[in-house]
This record gives sequence, structure tokens and C-alpha cells, in this order.
Amino acid sequence: MAPLAKAGGLADVAGALVKYLHADGHDIRLFMPAYASIPYARLQYYPVEFLQNLSVQLGTTQYVFSVLTARLPGSEAFVYLIDCPACFHRPALYTSDADEHLRFLLLTHAAFICCQRMGFAPDIMHFNDWHTAMGPLLRQTMYAWDGLFQYTRTVLTVHNIGYQGVVSAEVLPSGPTALLHQEDLRAGRINLLRHGVMYADLITTVSPSYAREIRTPEYGLGLEGELRARADHLVGILNGVDYDDWDPRRDHFVPRHFGANQLGVKADLKDDFLKRLRLSAGQRTPLIGMVSRLAEQKGFDLLFTALPRLLEAHNFNLVVLGSGEPRYEAFFHGLALAHPTRVHFHRGYSDELAHWIEAASDMFLMPSRYEPCGLNQMYSLRYGTVPIVRRTGGLADSVQHFDPATGQGTGVVFNDYNVEAVIWAVSTALDLYQNRGAWRRLVQNGMACDFSWKRQVKLYLEQYQRLSL
Ligand code: ADP
Ligand code: GLC
Repeated sequence: MAPLAKAGGLADVAGALVKYLHADGHDIRLFMPAYASIPYARLQYYPVEFLQNLSVQLGTTQYVFSVLTARLPGSEAFVYLIDCPACFHRPALYTSDADEHLRFLLLTHAAFICCQRMGFAPDIMHFNDWHTAMGPLLRQTMYAWDGLFQYTRTVLTVHNIGYQGVVSAEVLPSGPTALLHQEDLRAGRINLLRHGVMYADLITTVSPSYAREIRTPEYGLGLEGELRARADHLVGILNGVDYDDWDPRRDHFVPRHFGANQLGVKADLKDDFLKRLRLSAGQRTPLIGMVSRLAEQKGFDLLFTALPRLLEAHNFNLVVLGSGEPRYEAFFHGLALAHPTRVHFHRGYSDELAHWIEAASDMFLMPSRYEPCGLNQMYSLRYGTVPIVRRTGGLADSVQHFDPATGQGTGVVFNDYNVEAVIWAVSTALDLYQNRGAWRRLVQNGMACDFSWKRQVKLYLEQYQRLSL
């Protein structure tokens, strides 16, 4: 959960949901691991006296944890940090260690145990992704005896079905197996996300389009059967944007601010940024930005062929921020070496650079193979940075293809997942950029969009309330 720990969009979503639900008057308590990387020095946190040295038995291992609490920065909401150094003091938030599933099973149990000890009977327990997807089943089995949870309804949000938490059945702690997916068990494995989909009272995902897509084999990646069976309990709610953090009129990371009628400031920011990156630019040379986890999902395979051809055929600069799979890192590194005055690649993670890229770029490229929601295209719209996206998942739900004839639309959208399509899309955007009137219209259409969390949180509340009736 941002700003305490972040590996991707889930952190932004969790932080915003807690903040806006709390602001709306709800008693929301968030449980997350007390990762070693949390900036404790900047956080006022306290040990919770009656939540010390609690233990959970998972298989043959006994885990001991204590609980720290703090207010979510920028909010009054309480966050509970599950402090178990054996599990959470590792070099990264997510690992490929053999006990990865146990780390998060511990977190899931800890949430129940803390509620019990606090005498807190939640109306809704909201779990996210495979890591905590066993929560709904635990509620129905191990914790069913406790009247505290009698009226508790469970929600599972699928942020990304590409990660399902498939583990060998042997490594699961012992317990009743009748409710487990029998076919998986016979194959000797267990798919944690599948169990969330089977047992949550409500399944949500992070855009309406993705909610439809994951019911097909192409996008459901093996869970389409369960999702189709539970279609009446599956809804898509588009993520929102926290405009306190992502707004060019008050961005803390950039020195000058602008709204839809101050696009000259954006052009000045671009000049400063290009100097800083040591990229050279002629008059009206567009800058394309990318900020991303470098994972296959994001469509980088298309760029191996598309970007060299585009750089050959058109005049533009490119700035890429990201880290991840070595083949993509090597590709962008090589591209920057081949075009030192036109392409900049920053390998790593940087909030500051991410904000600069949004503020200074003219276009933002997201050619995703699949995208449950995607946040950067929505950030881009607010920053007057025209998104170039594939029509999939949340990208399809948040960006409309621009039609110069009518002046309607907010970005450039392509359909097919192939090299020609992405080349077409980027070329279309570069051509549009040369038409000053049309470009201004396109930019301003995007800046006028409102994807605020204030609105999206209401959709979650409607669902929570329906469950609690
Ligand atoms: P995903 O969760 O699949 O990575 P999203 O678009 O939902 O994709 O969210 C990604 C979030 O992580 C955005 O807030 C984006 O700015 C941020 N991000 C991704 N990579 C980096 C990076 N290298 N440096 C800074 N922020 C990053
Ligand atoms: C996932 C998805 C991304 C989504 C984010 C937050 O990581 O890949 O599309 O925006 O979760 O829901």
C-alpha cells in the first residue's frame, strides 16, 4: 500500500481506497506486512500492546508475529503492520522463495486474529489477489466458529489474473480438504486465487472490460470456468486516480504547474527535462514516455521490432522508466546506446522520475497484451500527455480513440496485438501532433476527464452495501 510499500498499481489502489473510504466515514482497517523497506523513520508508529507475540501454526512451522499501528500518511485511517521479520524482512516485497505463499497466508490469518483480539466485527473483509485469496475460505471454515464474523461478507479483488499463486499441495498446512478444488488436489497442486474466486461472496476486478475478458480462455488463464460459473457475483470497477498525488496543477515533484490553458508551462517542463536527460530536440519534436514494470503483460515484445522501425521513420524522443525482465531491460538499454541523443532509459524505480515523465511527455505508450486496469493512462490524461494504448481491459474503458473530424476522443487506440498495429498507432499520434489545432483539442479533452477515486469509491460502497443487506 502506497506510500508505505509499492511494487505496482495495487499499492496505489489500496492506499486510495483506504483513504477515501475513511474520509466517507467508514471504519476501515488495513492489514499489511511490516516490510523492512517501509520508511519507518518518517512514520509515527506504535506497537499495539495487546497484539504482541501472537502465533500461527502453518503446517510444521510456528510463526510468531506482533502488530504495529500507524495512521496512513495523508489520512486518519489506521494501518496495522504485521511484524514477522522471518517473513517480511527480505530484499524485495515479492520473492520467489519457497515459502512465498506462507508469508501471505500468515498475513491473511493475522488479519482474522487481529480482528478477534480487537473485538472488531467487520461487515466486509476485502482481500486482494492470490496472496490473500484464501481469506474467504478461512472465514467459512477455520474462523466460522467465531460469532464475531457471523455477518462478515467477503470480497476478493482480482488485480491481475496472470499471478495465481499455484503451489504444491504438499506445502499447504494440513486441514480439511473437502472444500478445496478436487481436480487441482489430484494433480498435487493448489491454486490459491482459484479458491478466492470459488468462495468470495463477491469478486471484483479493476475494470468492466477485464471483468468480461477474464471469462474467456484467452484472458482467464485457466480460471475462466469458475469465473463464468460465478458471473452473477463478478463485477468490474475501474480504478480511480488520487488527484491529490497526480495533478499537474500541484504536483510536488515538478517545479512548475499547469492546467489545461497553460500548456506553455508543459512545453517548458519538457525543455528542462530533455536537458536533464541530455536528449537533443528540434522544434516541435514530440517526446514519448513510458513508465512500467518490464513484464510480458505490458506488450514489450511488440516493441522489439516496432520501436527501431519507428525511430528510423519518424522524428521523436523516447524516455523509458522501468525495471523487470532482463530481456526487456537489455532491449531498452541497447536502444538508448544506439540512439544516445533520442532515447533515454532509466532502469529502476523512481516516483520522482515517474511524475516528471507524466508532466513533460507529449505522449504515453502502453501497448499492453492485457491490462486489468492500468493507472498511467489515466494519470497521462490529467497531465495532457496523450495515451497511445491497446484496446484491452481498463485501457479500453478509460481512453477513447480521437476522431479529428468530430474533435471527440482522448487518445490513440489500436485493436490488434501485433507490430503493425502499434506502428500504426504511434505514427498516427506523431502525425496528429503536427496538427496544432487537433492536438490541442485532443490534449484538452483528456485533461477534462475525471477518473477520481471520490467517484469510484461510491461504486465499491454500493457493492459492500448490497452484500450487507
Ligand atoms: P501494474 O500494477 O500492472 O504495474 P498499473 O498501471 O496499475 O500497472 O500501476 C503501475 C504503478 O506503478 C503506477 O503508479 C506507475 O507510475 C508505477 N510504476 C511502475 N513502474 C515504475 C517505476 N519504474 N518507477 C516508478 N513508478 C513506477
Ligand atoms: C495490476 C494490473 C493493473 C492494475 C493494478 C491495480 O497490477 O496489472 O492493470 O491497474 O493491478 O489494480
